[in-house]
Amino acid sequence: MTIKEYMTQNHKECDEILAQLENAVENNNWNKAIELNEKFKNETLKHFDIEENYLFPMFDEKASTGGCGPTQVMKMEHEQARTVFPKIEESIKEKDSDRFFGLSESLMILIQQHNSKEEQMLYTMIQNLFNDENETIIEALKNYEFN
Ligand SMILES: [Fe+2]
Ligand SMILES: [Fe+2]
Repeated sequence: MTIKEYMTQNHKECDEILAQLENAVENNNWNKAIELNEKFKNETLKHFDIEENYLFPMFDEKASTGGCGPTQVMKMEHEQARTVFPKIEESIKEKDSDRFFGLSESLMILIQQHNSKEEQMLYTMIQNLFNDENETIIEALKNYEFN
């Protein structure tokens, strides 16, 4: 498996949990929604953390971006997504499905656009730069600890 495939797979896993969460809300299964929302939030924040604290710094160093360029834009978009999580949590607590779907739809669009930029551009650049270290990096990604 390549780094690009691993990270793309992780995007899909997060998308899948969000779809399950939307289903739970659709069915007024609020306990399930609380559980899935936690799972979605944790998986997504872990993914962001891997990028911000492992993959992006590695890329910035090797590509000599000086911390500017594509990773900076990606980090800004992570921040945008992070601001939505507490609102989604609130809407679930209030069992307000209209508010929930408004928020989840806009988050989904944001994440989809974000992920496709990573998959088409950034991950491809990372793969090219670190192809020789692929196995080591995959191991590090699998064992990544997020607190
Ligand atoms: Fe990202
Ligand atoms: Fe990503």
